[in-house]
Amino acid sequence: MSKAKILITRKWPQSVEAELMKHYDVQCNDSDVAMTVDDLRAALGEYDAILPTVTDNMGAAVFETATIRTKAICNYGVGFSHIDVPAAQAAGITVTNTPDVLSECTADIAMTLMLMVARRAGEGEREVRAGAWSGWRPTHLIGKKASNKKVGIVGFGRIGQEFARRAHFGFNCEIFVQNRSQVAQNKLDAFNATQVPDLETLFQTCDVVSLHCPGGAANRHLINADIMAQSKSGLILINTARGEVVDEAALAQALQNGTIGGAGLDVFDGEPNIMSDTLNAPSIVMLPHLGSATDETRVEMGMRAMENLNAIMTGKAPRDPVT
Ligand code: 8YV
Repeated sequence: MSKAKILITRKWPQSVEAELMKHYDVQCNDSDVAMTVDDLRAALGEYDAILPTVTDNMGAAVFETATIRTKAICNYGVGFSHIDVPAAQAAGITVTNTPDVLSECTADIAMTLMLMVARRAGEGEREVRAGAWSGWRPTHLIGKKASNKKVGIVGFGRIGQEFARRAHFGFNCEIFVQNRSQVAQNKLDAFNATQVPDLETLFQTCDVVSLHCPGGAANRHLINADIMAQSKSGLILINTARGEVVDEAALAQALQNGTIGGAGLDVFDGEPNIMSDTLNAPSIVMLPHLGSATDETRVEMGMRAMENLNAIMTGKAPRDPVT
């Protein structure tokens, strides 16, 4: 029997690509250039499965094609707001993601950003590299203490809970949670956390707010000018979720006028393009979407996507279906 044809849309860790090649007729993307909508539409007619990433815009238009051969879209990543899941399902395609395996690393990046913003590490690093450091002095690059703060978490899923673990046990922070549904008491108790009823309360209460909710249309500009206007003085906003969750123009304005005290962003609306207002805002630290970027996690993400692929290709229920 001939092997199923699969497309890996970007370069993956070599060990995972090699594993996939043992079982499938694999098309890799050695040039590692992001695919266009036309490429993706054509791929749906050519491959039994597509293994995309966040850089593949698989909106409804991609699925408007006469011939669809693809049975599985096994996303390399937990967030899937770049895939129109109902449109894929209407075309008979099962969509999966890779939860769990990147929770710790994404929470680590959120904590990295929290510390960098609070302690002005980005500014300090730029100063040293520019040869502009004139030496130690008592009033130089004074930041804010990160320990013992009130930390708010929007979205208390796996990544939110990992961030809570770091903030509570590592930095003795008091944890507040805002979540669409009621969080089980034992999950809150694990970090002595308090669930608050709404975002306004979270922003009024906390020194730091870190976003760990899904992206997509439902959460577009969840964090907007009105919410930021409620901020406790000096609040630091961290976004490792999805760019569209924050109204970036409103954020730049809030940083300019001091409505909020600082921001750390790993994700951007329309990345890798970044609005000039965001680039020029004060007290902001920006990273190029590094949430899951470690050797260990990128391999685990690939293996988890393969596990889902194997299940679908052998007629079994995959571990991580998304709906
Ligand atoms: C991934 C992420 O690297 O998994 C996610 O949702 O945001 C990233 O950490 C990226 O999505 C790869 O597709």
